[in-house]
Amino acid sequence: MVDTQAWQLATRAVHAGKPAPHDGCTATVAPIHHAVTYRYRSMEALDQVFAGERAGYVYARHGNPTVAAFEEAVAALEDGEAAVAFASGMAAIHATLLAVGARQGSTVVAAQDIYGATYTLLTTLMRSQGVTVRFVDANDRDAVQAACSELRPVALLVETISNPLLKVADLPNLAETAHGCGAALLVDSTFATPALVRPLSMGADVVIHSATKYLAGHGDVLGGVVVTSQELRADILGILKATGANLGPQDAWLALRGMRTLMLRMREHCDNAREVARWLETHPRVSRVHYPGLPSHPQHTLAKALFENHQYGGVVSFEIEGAGREEVFRFFDALNLCVPATSLGDVHSLLLYPAHASHRTLSAEERQRMGIGAGLVRMSVGIEAVDDLLADLEQALNTLS
Ligand SMILES: Cc1ncc(COP(=O)(O)O)c(C=O)c1O
Repeated sequence: MVDTQAWQLATRAVHAGKPAPHDGCTATVAPIHHAVTYRYRSMEALDQVFAGERAGYVYARHGNPTVAAFEEAVAALEDGEAAVAFASGMAAIHATLLAVGARQGSTVVAAQDIYGATYTLLTTLMRSQGVTVRFVDANDRDAVQAACSELRPVALLVETISNPLLKVADLPNLAETAHGCGAALLVDSTFATPALVRPLSMGADVVIHSATKYLAGHGDVLGGVVVTSQELRADILGILKATGANLGPQDAWLALRGMRTLMLRMREHCDNAREVARWLETHPRVSRVHYPGLPSHPQHTLAKALFENHQYGGVVSFEIEGAGREEVFRFFDALNLCVPATSLGDVHSLLLYPAHASHRTLSAEERQRMGIGAGLVRMSVGIEAVDDLLADLEQALNTLS
């Protein structure tokens, strides 16, 4: 038996989740299983699968072989025991919160600088169900410790690299603080991917991805995935079976196919992002650049220690000097190559205006509190030739002068 976890990440990305032999031969690529139900040789056999006494599939909401191949591959990349896939990243976050005990009377502590829909999930749905939610500056260790000691939350939820300000979470320290207070550390690692960091190996209990982004990588799949222990996976799967936010087999196949090139793509994303960040830092119309790979980033030293291969992610945020909605819209409308559209992590470059997209549902005061100003732009740097990207940014910024 080959010990696949002994393989390096690049090898796992290409080979994990490969099909098992069937009828004396092995397909080299996972097939797409569209069947919703499965027939067994006897009712006894079907009953054993229903009872969990025998491995197998009974119904697509309970499990699907193509989805299982994707889950196996993500778990292998994250150094985790097991994974559960979802129809979206938000469904994955929601189910995880429920599984770790977010319900009437419990508390969740979350990083204040967090993806807008996650913020909305916590402040609307969770609070309306009687969950106390407290936001803290995840980079202020004393504030996190104080909130966890006071509230004894069921979970501490952070993003490895935050959306959109790209703050870097000190995962080993946060794990220690969370565990010291009896909380699970949930890490949304969508921006980082396992190419940069594997949060479970740093003490996190759960790592969550919007697979829509870098894992699938091509802007053609909506999906989510959670990697954790076998024990917690069983609880999360129970919630998935009850709520039905399943990833479909076609999307699982596309996501798995995308993941085969994750390591290659991330290298290019990160190299290009670093070039773009350095260039933006010298541009007279840009007042501030947020990128963990720049020495000017407040957590650059931490990022250097946590992230592998001198990679700092493919997203850069920057502030256009003195700009508001009108100037930012003019800049976006002038782009020829970079795509002014929501999402991130695709092979093509995408630019987004957080104030009207990812963080639209927040009030201006909430955005201000988070540090999301009216001139802030988020760029997901693609794998195009970087000189073409810089030329496009340059001509678009020139329309503002
Ligand atoms: C950091 C982060 N987490 C979660 C999500 C939600 O993922 P999805 O859109 O797949 O539901 C997003 C989406 O942009 C995100 O950026």
